[in-house]
Amino acid sequence: MDFIDIAKSRYSCRKYQDKKVEKIKLDKILNAAHVAPTAANCQPQKLIVIQEKEGLEKINKAANTYQAPLVILVCGDKDKAWTRPFDGKKYQDIDTSIVTDHMMLQATELGLGTVWVCYFNPEVIRSEFNLPDNLEPISILVIGYPDGEPQVSDRHDKTRQPIETIVSYEAL
Ligand SMILES: Cc1cc2nc3c(=O)[nH]c(=O)nc-3n(C[C@H](O)[C@H](O)[C@H](O)COP(=O)(O)O)c2cc1C
Repeated sequence: MDFIDIAKSRYSCRKYQDKKVEKIKLDKILNAAHVAPTAANCQPQKLIVIQEKEGLEKINKAANTYQAPLVILVCGDKDKAWTRPFDGKKYQDIDTSIVTDHMMLQATELGLGTVWVCYFNPEVIRSEFNLPDNLEPISILVIGYPDGEPQVSDRHDKTRQPIETIVSYEAL
């Protein structure tokens, strides 16, 4: 499949089959995270893979993971992230988002459903997973075999703003 076909076939899946994701697929997803670029190659990402009942119960105290069998908690290490010298901006949010997107699209290519979740209480995550102060929980990637009808891949004309409203050439 071409890249654009993978990107278009991805949708936020909020219903999953009760079926584990095979290790070979998980390894491919993690490899996609491994090759993702990060600012100055600082690699501030820390990924916590959650598949066991106890871990899923812990994460579900903070977020809705739609009863998926596999959840990846994506954290950013603010002590490792590149800092822009002009204004002190730290890049762990951007770096971890690229990592999350790489994993999400790799999962799509493998026939898996995903949903990216940021609606969670970070303090609950911190205490449930004993995160040190330097590690910020940034995103949760929910993964599994979709249940129900997939969303159609040509839906973006209706679900996205017209391209002209988000792109301009040479000036705003
Ligand atoms: C950074 C980010 C955070 C999101 N947080 C949530 C969330 O907490 N819960 C949820 O159900 N969906 C969440 N989503 C999914 C978006 O709602 C969804 O991507 C958007 O509505 C477009 O729909 P689509 O993914 O089906 O194309 C999030 C997506 C992104 C990129």
